[in-house]
Amino acid sequence: MTAEIISTGAFVPEKTVTNDDLSGIMDTNDEWIRTRTGIGERHIADEEFPNDEKAFVLALKACERALNNASEKAKTEKTASFKDRSDIDMIIVGTSTPDFSFPATACRLQEALGIENAAAFDISLACTGFIAALSTADAYIRAGVYKNILVVGVDVLSRLIDWSDRGTAVLFGDGAGAAVVSASDSESGVIKTVLHSAGSGAKALYSKSMYFNEDEKAGMSMDGKKVYDFAVRKTPEVIREAVESINCDDVKYYVLHQANIRIIEAVSKRLKEPMEKFPHNIGRYGNTSAASIPIMLDELEREGRLKKGDLICLAGFGAGLAYGAVLLKF
Ligand code: UT7
Repeated sequence: MTAEIISTGAFVPEKTVTNDDLSGIMDTNDEWIRTRTGIGERHIADEEFPNDEKAFVLALKACERALNNASEKAKTEKTASFKDRSDIDMIIVGTSTPDFSFPATACRLQEALGIENAAAFDISLACTGFIAALSTADAYIRAGVYKNILVVGVDVLSRLIDWSDRGTAVLFGDGAGAAVVSASDSESGVIKTVLHSAGSGAKALYSKSMYFNEDEKAGMSMDGKKVYDFAVRKTPEVIREAVESINCDDVKYYVLHQANIRIIEAVSKRLKEPMEKFPHNIGRYGNTSAASIPIMLDELEREGRLKKGDLICLAGFGAGLAYGAVLLKF
């Protein structure tokens, strides 16, 4: 029994903020941001979204898309376990910027999606949140406990941004991505998951809980160089661990957390794998934290770049310092 991703969905808010917009409010410029990060613009959940619904609404829209895509697929293809959303028996949300301390974002989504009797909870692991959620879903399915799991990555990093700190403000954007993961006895599905935390570096990237601050901005502290070095060192390591049972030549795409195009290029170089195998959209979205991997995956799917049987390796890294990878057959 494997855990197969049968559909994806993603959503980003309409409002974009370009590098030139940012250079109007802080001491930065398009050239610096593009050459140092690869980012051109990012989507921000502005006043259009009530403050207590930002993560919820982005995630809900991504989930609706993933569930509709799964239902469409179930009509034409033989999907072993999933027929419609009533089959969902677990919802796992990776987020570190929920609207509420409780209930879990997953419980709010469950109610809004009309899914009864499912288990639902959130996982907080920052930019590695989607990898942690997908690994958890894989474990439950492999153990035979649940059959159809909605796995979500959503973050609203803009709510933490200090717009006077050019070192972090230019990097992040808001968004959500989701995947329907189903028990399958086909060839497709997760082959291996690997999840680690370094056990050091917790102070390299952090944001205090919002209730530490009277104003709504909790702010963010980042040692950019430390996080960069960690990502470039540990991401190839964890990918090697995930793909050890197969030949790297057979991997079609490495879908990495989109934090910095230079990190992606450095990983490509260290793995001696061509950049064509590393799809990226950071130019349009910035770093959307737990959402970046499922957004990228959904983009590949919608563009028809994923074919049945393709081997894909997902890899995430970030605050913790945590990192992980999932090797799967599409
Ligand atoms: O999801 C995980 C989350 N975080 C990350 O992945 C971040 C990992 N780190 C990085 O991506 C990079 O370290 C950054 C993009 C954050 C920074 O790039 P860098 O090449 O390490 O630049 P730096 O911090 O060494 O700064 C170089 C210069 C400094 O000026 P001086 O001291 O050389 O005069 C900065 O003050 O660039 C300056 N600088 C900026 N200039 C214009 C820093 N931010 C900006 C900015 N615009 N936004």
